[in-house]
Amino acid sequence: MKNKRYNLADSTIGPPDYKVMENFLKARKYLNQSVYTKNFEKKFSKFLGSKYSTFVNSGSSANLLMAQVLLEGNFLKNKTVVLPSVSWSTTVSPFVQLGYKIILCDCDKFNLGLCINSLERICKKYKPGLVLVVNVLGHSNNFQKLKSLKRKYNFQLLEDNCESLGSKTNKGRLGTIGLASSHSFYYGHHISTIEGGMISTNDKKFYNLSLSIRSHGWARDVQKKFRLNLEKKFKIDEFKSLFTFYYSGFNVRSTDLNASLGIEQLKKIRKISLIRQMNYNRYKKNLSTFWCQKSDLKILSSFGYATFVKNRLDVFKYLRKKKIQSRPLICGNMAQQPFIKNKFKNKINLNNAKFVDKYGIYLPNHANLSKGDIDYISEQFLKIAKPIFFS
Ligand SMILES: Cc1ncc(COP(=O)(O)O)c(C=O)c1O
Repeated sequence: MKNKRYNLADSTIGPPDYKVMENFLKARKYLNQSVYTKNFEKKFSKFLGSKYSTFVNSGSSANLLMAQVLLEGNFLKNKTVVLPSVSWSTTVSPFVQLGYKIILCDCDKFNLGLCINSLERICKKYKPGLVLVVNVLGHSNNFQKLKSLKRKYNFQLLEDNCESLGSKTNKGRLGTIGLASSHSFYYGHHISTIEGGMISTNDKKFYNLSLSIRSHGWARDVQKKFRLNLEKKFKIDEFKSLFTFYYSGFNVRSTDLNASLGIEQLKKIRKISLIRQMNYNRYKKNLSTFWCQKSDLKILSSFGYATFVKNRLDVFKYLRKKKIQSRPLICGNMAQQPFIKNKFKNKINLNNAKFVDKYGIYLPNHANLSKGDIDYISEQFLKIAKPIFFS
């Protein structure tokens, strides 16, 4: 094991995928978004258990597109959004860019999703129109309690599921609970289309708006009935049809080449999730004296093994010497990130997120790690790391 490197992430794209792309390129003249994209979207919806999916060029674009669809479709009672403090830059930044009033919420001490008590206090005071959750590193939020708060305070719910593709509760997969969800197919994620992302929803209007806003705001890609209604409403004739823009759109499309890769990658997702779950359980057993992330799941499609250590920099440096990568727990507390810190005053108590920011670390988990690899990483980690727990 001496010369082996233990990276946080590894490629899921191998020789069968190259063959698929090669065959695609030989067979097709038109390489842009077309039938392969439709096919990938259909297969992805079937896997996830949702009605509709929209393929885009990244998970970040999926978040941006969801944020714009909500505005253009008048889905919200107001533009106040609650976002997780333990999340990713592009979980938060689309809402900043589109002029939402953002409130960062503290994280839960067990699953690292939203802290329900903190969220309820925010709902009482600020009456948000939207709550977005991140399912952190494969783990679920407390959706039972979230749903009851949603009923009580009447907000829309979105899921950023970019780190949790494949995780499943007794009721279905993560990413099927809110009005819509985002997914990432970036390098090292559960599956990859090189760059890529997806929005999934059961809502027909949300779906059609996402198809339109993905491509300039035109109606070329929306369902036929939806397009005819728009043309009737705005009195658009055949001549102008292709060049009329109904919504303020982006271009966040991907291509059929990426979709052909996605179709092939999707065949492996179940197996990848199970290996990631096995790795997680092995870490949990090996590192039983340390804090461990918990949520109620039937399948835990783990993304990384999160824990807390008192001496983080020492652990990081020691592991690096042993060729083992480690990193902050996602990216700590978003409220401390420079792009937020000096611009917004977040009046909410973020004590748990501050703890995550100070002590959080995560270890490699991907489908190319063996039991022996997990044992080796655990053994090295135990040699240096000092545990610490939420108070
Ligand atoms: C929670 C979360 N949301 C969004 C993203 C962005 O996804 P992408 O890299 O595909 O833009 C990431 C990236 O890892 C993420 O962890």
